[in-house]
Amino acid sequence: MRIFLIGFMGCGKSTMGRSLATSLGLTFVDLDTYLEERFFKTIPQIFAEEGEDAFRRKERKVLEEVAAFDNVIVATGGGAPCFFDNMDLMNRSGFCIFLDVDIETLIYRLTHARIERPLIKGKSPDELREFIDGLMQKRRPFYEKAHYILTGKEILAEQVIELVKKKD
Ligand code: S3P
Repeated sequence: MRIFLIGFMGCGKSTMGRSLATSLGLTFVDLDTYLEERFFKTIPQIFAEEGEDAFRRKERKVLEEVAAFDNVIVATGGGAPCFFDNMDLMNRSGFCIFLDVDIETLIYRLTHARIERPLIKGKSPDELREFIDGLMQKRRPFYEKAHYILTGKEILAEQVIELVKKKD
């Protein structure tokens, strides 16, 4: 079994992935963390020193690696589904779930987040709103290729577990 959780920054992929891994007896892989350990650099460092294109190539490489792991639940970075044919790769190699959390919740969480995200660093609340709105519109068609879409303010682990069980 291989599950991919996809969705915009702040939609809760990592939190959900961690709690699902315990309930479903799978290993949790956070693709961003895996990438940082694999290349011995943090994501902000990669963006600053090598640029976004280099980050996306590294992201693709690690996605190919985790797409061959067994019994994992993978939380991808928010942009991962939207570059190369990453979405097709995930759909081919696992069960993809899009966590479609509303924009207001995303804005709230991203404004209060502690981790550094290069794409939104230094944006004012108004700039952040405009940025999220625009980027979500571009990314939505990729996210919507997922096998399943869960929508809501608070998506519960139980909802995902039910889905996964139904699928078997
Ligand atoms: C990105 C999202 C981040 C991380 C990188 C780029 C994006 O992951 O991969 O900063 O393009 O949306 P999270 O979605 O886990 O924040």
